[in-house]
Amino acid sequence: MLANYKILTVTHKQAKLKEIGDFVVKTADESALRARLEALKSRFKLDELLYLPTCNRVMYFFTTGQSIDAQFISRFFQFVNPSISDTVLDQAKESVQCFEGAAALEHLLDVSASIDSLVIGERQILRQLREAFDQCWEWGLAGNFIRLAYQQAVVAAKSVYSNTRIGEKPVSVVSLAIQKLLKTNISKQARILVIGAGQTNQLVGKFLAKHAFTNVVVFNRTFAKAEQLATLLDGKAFVWDSLPSYTEGFDCLIVCTGATDSVISPELYAQLLRGEGGRKVVIDLAVPRNVSEAVVENNDIHYIEIEGLRHLAQANLAFREQEIEEARIILKEYLQEFPALLKQRQIELAMHRVPTEIKAVRHKAINEVFRKEVDLLDGQTRELMERMLAYMEKKCIGIPMRAAREAVLAGK
Ligand SMILES: NC(=O)c1ccc[n+]([C@@H]2O[C@H](COP(=O)([O-])OP(=O)(O)OC[C@H]3O[C@@H](n4cnc5c(N)ncnc54)[C@H](OP(=O)(O)O)[C@@H]3O)[C@@H](O)[C@H]2O)c1
Repeated sequence: MLANYKILTVTHKQAKLKEIGDFVVKTADESALRARLEALKSRFKLDELLYLPTCNRVMYFFTTGQSIDAQFISRFFQFVNPSISDTVLDQAKESVQCFEGAAALEHLLDVSASIDSLVIGERQILRQLREAFDQCWEWGLAGNFIRLAYQQAVVAAKSVYSNTRIGEKPVSVVSLAIQKLLKTNISKQARILVIGAGQTNQLVGKFLAKHAFTNVVVFNRTFAKAEQLATLLDGKAFVWDSLPSYTEGFDCLIVCTGATDSVISPELYAQLLRGEGGRKVVIDLAVPRNVSEAVVENNDIHYIEIEGLRHLAQANLAFREQEIEEARIILKEYLQEFPALLKQRQIELAMHRVPTEIKAVRHKAINEVFRKEVDLLDGQTRELMERMLAYMEKKCIGIPMRAAREAVLAGK
């Protein structure tokens, strides 16, 4: 079964962050995402599927008995993104990584422990992994085997965070972006226009509050979340649809939503500018990007996006490099114990039907095989027989389970 674990992934290590967007499932909302992932699972005959898009990777973790070759990968991503270009697909050999069996599990553990992240030691990945798993579990995409691997990855990651210094002096993509923003010498009274009020922009908000920015407005699809973030910043919240008619202008635009297409088109950007000149700061932390490339190319912008944070992230890596070695030692223990856990889980699943089958045997004995003899028994004897059979049933159910567990432990 271990061999059936597979991962197809595109990460910051093999691709530019803006290229990752080509390998993401692009949909307008969650129900469309669910439908698309269900179709992907069924089209490629995957037994289970976990989909994890983050700011520095997109990962498809699935189980299947099929082997994965270049043709499979090409068909897979053509289905994921029907508008993917032939050039990007040709380059998939370099940008897509494929892990199978124990290597897939190892990669999952590296990701969850954040040693494969752009910003080593950032803990957001654990939340993102948990949310991705919960969603795929709820949607019936992930099952028992993905769950077992996910649980092992979470336990291993927690052990790495508590037994190494990898998460010390926490940094994140957001904190690096704010560092860059401060380097532009932007005034504390600058007009800051925040678009999106998800987890990432909530964190952005905390930094803006910490650095005492005083003039912030927030737009979000769900107004209550915009209000919540605006309150933190002593700012104003606006409904999403009023964005094109916003008249106050901006000095800094911070955009980060889960939208898989551009949110800030050239037309919208021009409307928001209100004809003002001068250099603007634009921060886009979304993957795929939320600000259209044409906006960046054709305007006077100090553009801050995740790709440009690489060198700051690398400085952070230098500090944590020796912790990566410590982390690997810990992860190895969790990897080594996984095959036994997997075997035990398989046995538990196979044993699932034992209680029902033993009950059926008891029922058949009384009602069919020994029916005539049972009918001749007086009430007291019959009651004793029923009690004895119930006792036997209860005791027998545990025997195969215990024996299997002992066999797994003996073979460990
Ligand atoms: N989490 C991180 O550590 C991190 C770090 C850097 C970058 N990122 C990137 O940031 C982006 C958002 O991630 P997140 O963790 O903040 O997500 P999140 O907590 O799920 O929030 C998503 C936000 O996007 C909005 N949104 C979603 N789809 C939209 C659409 N089609 N049109 C307009 N608004 C839409 C949501 O509005 P509602 O409130 O109305 O749902 C919400 O404000 C992703 O691209 C992610 O890769 C994440």
